[in-house]
Amino acid sequence: MTSPGAAEPMIAPSILSADFARLAEAADSVDGADWLHVDVMDNHFVPNLTLGLPVVQSLRAATGIPLDCHLMIDDPDRWAPPYAEAGAANVTFHVEAATDPVRTARAIRSAGALAGLSVKPGTPLEPYLDVLREFDTLLVMTVEPGFGGQQFMAEVLPKVRLAREHVRAGHLRLFVEVDGGIGADTIEAAAQAGADVFVAGSAVFGAEDPGRAVEALRERARGSMTL
Ligand code: DX5
Ligand code: ZN
Repeated sequence: MTSPGAAEPMIAPSILSADFARLAEAADSVDGADWLHVDVMDNHFVPNLTLGLPVVQSLRAATGIPLDCHLMIDDPDRWAPPYAEAGAANVTFHVEAATDPVRTARAIRSAGALAGLSVKPGTPLEPYLDVLREFDTLLVMTVEPGFGGQQFMAEVLPKVRLAREHVRAGHLRLFVEVDGGIGADTIEAAAQAGADVFVAGSAVFGAEDPGRAVEALRERARGSMTL
């Protein structure tokens, strides 16, 4: 798999915007994607309910695209490692919900997945810079988690810049992923700020040809990336 700091932008279509009765077809329609982003919501951490482990297990069998599980759930210390055991390539949980993020990251890694930490728009990054040494991915939310189709929040980009500076300086080794409101009009700003993984839900599955939408987003990000 691509490792953090690869010069190529990675596109992670979010199946939140796909037809939940046809997830295997949705995955097939974006077979050039780098990761397939799977939003797990528990109706507690966020006011929405989506899918959980059984669906991830079925998706794992239905597609060869590496699964990027984004857990918007309470008590990730307990519930995150099973997603790694189910074969997810990357398991990201929210720092706001975690009690012991380092222990949870270690459990995810020892089950064979990359470990990701996510921050909501209002959560600062500075208190977690040391903790992030134990992670492979930082997911900076560029909308409030819970729903697709929201407007991109450019005001969180300083966190992307800060993370990229620490990666560039060699203090951290991370994918810097952005999630929420990413589309043709916003991906360049995120790439310029230093993101290298781009989640896109409505911009991909709302398009007539999701596969082409992935390639078009990748092309736009490629021209603006500053690693
Ligand atoms: C929001 C989810 C996102 C969502 C993004 O809570 O984490 O992954 O699918 O959807 P768009 O790209 O439509 O903003
Ligand atoms: Zn997400």
